[in-house]
Amino acid sequence: MENDTDPTRRYQDQLATLRRSNQDHVLRWWPELSDDQQKTLLRQLESVPWPVLDRLIPTHVLATPQQGTPADIRPPVVHPKSPSPSEATVYDDARQTGRDLLRAGKVAAFTVAGGQGTRLGFDGPKGALAVTPVGDHSLFEIFAETIKEARRRYDAPIPWYIMTSPANHGQTLDFLKQHDFFALPETDVIFFSQGMLPALDFEGRLLLEEKGSLALAPDGHGGSLTALVRNGALEDMRSRGVEIISYFQIDNPLVKPFDPLFLGLHAQTGSEMSIKVTRKADDLERVGNVCVCDGKVTVIEYSDFPDEFAHARNPDGTRKFDAGNLAIHLLSVDFVDRVVGQSFQLPFRRANKKVAFVDRRGEAVAPDKPNAVKLETFIFDVLPLADNPMVLEVDRAEEFSPVKNLTGVDSLDSSRRDQIARACRWLEAAGVDVPRTQEGQPDVTLCIAPGFALDAEDIRARKANLPRLHPGASLYIE
Ligand code: UTP
Repeated sequence: MENDTDPTRRYQDQLATLRRSNQDHVLRWWPELSDDQQKTLLRQLESVPWPVLDRLIPTHVLATPQQGTPADIRPPVVHPKSPSPSEATVYDDARQTGRDLLRAGKVAAFTVAGGQGTRLGFDGPKGALAVTPVGDHSLFEIFAETIKEARRRYDAPIPWYIMTSPANHGQTLDFLKQHDFFALPETDVIFFSQGMLPALDFEGRLLLEEKGSLALAPDGHGGSLTALVRNGALEDMRSRGVEIISYFQIDNPLVKPFDPLFLGLHAQTGSEMSIKVTRKADDLERVGNVCVCDGKVTVIEYSDFPDEFAHARNPDGTRKFDAGNLAIHLLSVDFVDRVVGQSFQLPFRRANKKVAFVDRRGEAVAPDKPNAVKLETFIFDVLPLADNPMVLEVDRAEEFSPVKNLTGVDSLDSSRRDQIARACRWLEAAGVDVPRTQEGQPDVTLCIAPGFALDAEDIRARKANLPRLHPGASLYIE
């Protein structure tokens, strides 16, 4: 809504606020800005949460916040990926419960796609990136096809909520529109934007992206909780009868958002928020460590995890803290409502990033190393507030291969390799011959469309429809 207070008065108010916080340099170019630019800058300034910034600048910008080690820290209780014989019926029942929840329309998909994808450096929203090893299918398309298949299979109108940021909202919407929402009903694809916070230089000063515009950055995936409520998405879920939110991030093409076991265990344990974990590749792997701290399930980032815990061993020699966060969650709608209603505050984290800015001479600067601090909150920091949080171990190779970079670790290259490897495993598990090199690597470039199979089990039923795979073949199986 447009603020109809007199612009001169609004300017004076902002000038006073900025002076109080020693930030009035951002009005340096005011006299030469057009009316529209002035309006934009005023709107941005009026949305800055000054009390939060004034509190965080000394602790998170001028200093680096240290996360203290909790007095009591233990490994969490983890539901293993393969149940013991005595638990097998519990898992079977849970799968049935999960399927029933899906059939009853109680599950929504929720993709957080508000990040800036700076490491990838792709020109456009990350979800538009062609990520499959064959056929150039985008991340958005993979998720849309997965949702379409789940809607068909469970005969339920599973809605898809997509969180963008003001920086990529228009482009994201345009992309989905250009592709006709990948044949999902438009009314079942719901977009909303998260909040933004100013980026600050290392002296705690606001940066200008242009003479008439602050450098703003999305407030982290933790911002999704308030954004769900503020934008009416949670209310929309309620009106559709949705009770469980299946949360996943835009960059993981292997994610299984409609996992009956995960859903069923979540419901049967009365969990308000659940998390998938995987065994760590090594003691110091750069993943969040899922622990129980002072009685609460908590994720401790690798950078804050003391070495003595990272290297700790059980009496049998296995790693003591071996639950790596995969950023895949279920949250109950009631839980999100409760925590946001209690005006909770997630802890802010500091990220040093490269942020383009206009310097004091008015010249645009594109830094080649981090020059600014972005302040973000993280979704997993709400876990300690959840009742009965449930932790499920899964096989990383089956469910997680994020695209953060173009090459190297967690990249487009590694994710494409992992997609091929998973497709080949699924086919072989169903008895299909897959050509392999002498070193045992797949000698095919394969991709299995979600509409053909959502997991290895589905292949068995459809294997008669598969062509013979020749060495060197490149195939999109749909
Ligand atoms: P990352 O932490 O990997 O950040 O986000 P990013 O923005 O994608 O990439 P870099 O760090 O700039 O290279 C993990 C997930 O959380 C979402 C991202 O879109 C991605 O799905 N996210 C991140 C948000 O939705 N909002 C944010 O403010 C930050």
